[in-house]
Amino acid sequence: MKVSLGAKPLALPTPAWLVGTYDADGRPNIATVAWCGVCCTEPPSIAVSLRKARHSHGAIVARKAFTVNVPSDRFVRETDYAGIVSGRAGDKFAATGLTSVPSDLVDAPFVDEFPLVIECRLAQIIEVGTHIQFIGEIVNVRADEAVLDANGLPDMLKVRPIVYDPGAKVYYGVGDAIGKAFSIGNEVKNGQE
Ligand SMILES: Cc1cc2nc3c(=O)[nH]c(=O)nc-3n(C[C@H](O)[C@H](O)[C@H](O)COP(=O)(O)O)c2cc1C
Repeated sequence: MKVSLGAKPLALPTPAWLVGTYDADGRPNIATVAWCGVCCTEPPSIAVSLRKARHSHGAIVARKAFTVNVPSDRFVRETDYAGIVSGRAGDKFAATGLTSVPSDLVDAPFVDEFPLVIECRLAQIIEVGTHIQFIGEIVNVRADEAVLDANGLPDMLKVRPIVYDPGAKVYYGVGDAIGKAFSIGNEVKNGQE
């Protein structure tokens, strides 16, 4: 039996990504987001939703660019910190010891220590409600060579991204691979299950 939990944003899982921005004064900042995800293949696009009160919100409006920085699970403390302190109050790069690197493609910094970085130019702003959704067109993806698989793609078990449970407010690591997409479903399609 299913129990109704009401009208709440209780999807599982969400990412825990850090949005990288420069504010109007050129100060680099990072903020943790869970309301985010890839939203289009062509043009390759990513959506991040921020409350207007976030310092990052004004920064994206001012600079029309942001980066999405995917932390490895060993950066869980830094990830949480970037989500509980505002860049208005101080320099989160300095506080965490993370390194801000200017993107040469968009007007935003990225986190050098994180294995996967997505550079975005602001394409659309959608006022959803409490949160403003920023659609960023992906102009480049940077990955540490060490996290690439044999096909040159980011490897889940090498990147080790953080998985977030927004209901219980707990961070998780990734588990084992359980099947090949666009493939394992053929076992059902072909009546093998
Ligand atoms: C796990 C986690 C997820 C979060 N997700 C979001 C989000 O999707 N949107 C948002 O506006 N704030 C989110 N926050 C809160 C912001 O990261 C937090 O308010 C932060 O201090 C904003 O920084 P800024 O003012 O420097 O932009 C999240 C915080 C945590 C810890």
